[in-house]
Amino acid sequence: MSGKAITRLFLLLFLVLGVATLGLAGPKKHGNEVGSGAGQADNDKHKGKPVAETHQQVDPSQYVGAETCKSCHEDVARGYDKGPHWKTTLAKHQGPEWQGCEACHGPGKAHAESADPDKILRLGSLSREESSKRCLGCHEFGQEHANFLRSEHLKNNVGCVDCHSIHAPKIQAKLLKVAQPQLCYSCHLDVKPDFSKPFHHRVNEGLVACSNCHNPHGGFITHQLRATAAQDQLCFNCHTDKAGPFAFEHQPVKTEGCVACHSPHGSSNPRLLRRSNVNLLCLECHSFTVDAGAPDAPSFHNQAQKYQACTMCHVAIHGSNSDHVFFKP
Ligand code: HEC
Ligand code: HEC
Ligand code: HEC
Ligand code: HEC
Ligand code: HEC
Ligand code: HEC
Ligand code: HEC
Ligand code: HEC
Ligand code: HEC
Ligand code: HEC
Repeated sequence: MSGKAITRLFLLLFLVLGVATLGLAGPKKHGNEVGSGAGQADNDKHKGKPVAETHQQVDPSQYVGAETCKSCHEDVARGYDKGPHWKTTLAKHQGPEWQGCEACHGPGKAHAESADPDKILRLGSLSREESSKRCLGCHEFGQEHANFLRSEHLKNNVGCVDCHSIHAPKIQAKLLKVAQPQLCYSCHLDVKPDFSKPFHHRVNEGLVACSNCHNPHGGFITHQLRATAAQDQLCFNCHTDKAGPFAFEHQPVKTEGCVACHSPHGSSNPRLLRRSNVNLLCLECHSFTVDAGAPDAPSFHNQAQKYQACTMCHVAIHGSNSDHVFFKP
């Protein structure tokens, strides 16, 4: 992101927060929560502990700046200086609540004066929803994270800090706790065997990433897939030749999507097909008696071995511009 883009992000953020403050700031709501959606139960849970001052309601005198924090937390600060978050301090025109350590840990004066660990916001001890909302204060704009609060991950109590480490990432790029796909396998062991099948998307080999197909930050369609419900656009990202449009479409490619015929992770069958024999796949939808001649008829469509390889003749199975039965592209 360019400096300009960051500036715009912050401007937008302040506009939105400004409006939110007008609407929300009542006498009862005393800024001790991270976002605007945390309920009463969360407030009670953190009674007596320092909790995040909302970014809406800020007393600038409670902030000390990153240099002060660094003076006692040299080791942590070293990692921070290497990472992308020091850049937040470049937004000089913003208030202290968006600067340095305190952008995440909240106002630090009381803690800096006492060195009492109970007087600073510890993100690791917040609920996943609360700590994630703190991150989203800066990261919720743009496609990538817009849906996190409704994601399968947060709904199942998986938050930003389960995948990202701010201070000690194993993978500096994107601050990942562990590299993909190991990061994902650490919880999704069940899908791991698919990627060891004889035919598979080469995820373990590093050619394709889980996050090429899924958005770990959530999305609007099932299985947190990127792009449309039919999965078309997702697969088209890489398999552009299948996108068409074709003069003669093979209907299920568009209506049911690629997974009607392929297992997207991996398969024991060549071409990641869901069935061991192509004819069995076709016959899930096409009836021999109606579409392709009775089995005993003297037709190339009977079940004789040599006709079983349907795609020997129907080669352009994803669609054709010249032939309605897909004999040629
Ligand atoms: C005068 C020294 C001093 C200053 C200044 C200081 N801290 Fe601390 N901080 C400590 C000590 C001592 C502890 C408790 C020991 C520990 O866990 O490292 C602590 C603990 C913490 C913890 C909890 C660590 C845990 O294990 O959960 C956080 C978070 C923290 N500090 C953040 C900050 C931030 C942010 C700032 C700046 C606003 C800051 N500190 C300024 C001395 C300081
Ligand atoms: C982008 C948000 C963010 C910023 C900026 C940030 N921290 Fe943290 N910090 C965290 C999170 C999240 C944790 C909890 C660690 C975890 O669960 O992975 C944490 C943990 C800590 C801890 C506890 C020890 C540890 O490593 O777990 C200390 C101490 C700390 N931060 C100090 C600082 C200081 C000092 C700065 C500024 C130099 C700073 N932090 C800047 C998010 C941030
Ligand atoms: C289930 C794991 C997971 C969770 C939960 C998660 N992330 Fe990520 N995040 C990733 C992975 C993996 C990538 C790297 C994707 C890539 O390399 O394309 C990433 C990338 C990012 C990026 C870089 C995005 C970009 O466009 O380059 C940011 C910023 C980010 N995450 C922030 C967050 C925040 C903030 C949260 C919580 C609101 C969060 N993440 C929750 C796994 C996760
Ligand atoms: C004060 C605003 C702010 C807060 C709060 C914040 N971030 Fe960031 N974050 C940024 C900025 C700015 C960048 C740098 C963006 C860039 O250079 O593209 C960044 C970068 C990142 C990246 C790396 C993106 C990349 O492309 O490598 C990740 C991952 C990330 N943040 C996760 C988090 C998580 C997790 C939290 C909460 C613990 C958090 N952020 C809290 C502002 C913030
Ligand atoms: C080539 C694209 C692609 C890649 C790469 C990919 N997935 Fe998927 N994944 C899909 C599609 C498509 C579905 C939906 C399958 C369906 O509708 O039958 C899915 C379904 C899932 C599901 C839910 C259903 C199930 O099988 O349990 C999980 C969990 C999942 N993927 C995790 C992962 C993980 C973890 C990785 C990386 C190790 C990964 N995926 C890599 C495309 C992909
Ligand atoms: C800390 C554990 C954890 C990590 C790490 C994690 N996940 Fe998840 N994920 C879950 C849980 C829990 C669910 C919800 C229950 C389920 O569907 O398995 C979920 C749901 C999903 C779903 C939706 C499944 C569906 O059927 O709709 C997908 C896709 C997914 N995760 C992909 C990923 C990818 C890709 C990564 C790595 C970038 C990842 N997850 C990392 C715990 C995790
Ligand atoms: C990030 C890019 C990417 C995405 C997205 C992607 N693929 Fe692939 N796919 C590949 C690559 C690269 C190969 C070649 C694999 C190899 O050589 O190991 C491949 C191979 C295949 C093959 C086997 C081809 C052969 O000749 O055996 C099929 C079938 C396939 N993909 C279907 C899909 C489907 C269905 C989707 C959507 C769910 C999808 N792909 C999404 C990159 C992608
Ligand atoms: C009606 C079933 C069906 C649907 C739907 C389908 N495919 Fe296929 N696909 C096949 C068959 C059958 C083969 C093997 C063709 C052969 O044996 O030559 C194949 C082969 C492939 C191959 C490898 C050979 C080649 O042509 O490049 C890729 C890649 C592929 N499909 C991607 C996709 C994508 C992407 C989608 C979704 C847009 C999709 N398929 C939808 C049946 C289907
Ligand atoms: C998921 C269901 C499905 C699968 C699997 C499937 N088809 Fe189709 N196919 C259809 C539908 C629906 C149509 C369009 C309606 C029709 O003409 O029957 C169609 C149309 C066709 C047509 C064009 C018919 C015409 O008269 O224009 C051919 C040829 C064909 N399919 C061959 C195959 C072959 C070969 C396979 C196996 C590789 C296959 N189909 C797998 C659903 C499927
Ligand atoms: C030896 C070549 C060959 C093989 C192998 C073959 N077909 Fe055909 N198929 C044809 C011909 C020729 C037509 C008729 C084309 C026309 O009407 O112009 C046809 C037509 C079709 C049609 C359209 C029927 C209609 O009524 O319009 C479907 C569906 C079909 N085949 C499915 C299959 C399936 C499923 C298989 C595998 C079990 C298969 N074909 C194997 C040559 C073949």
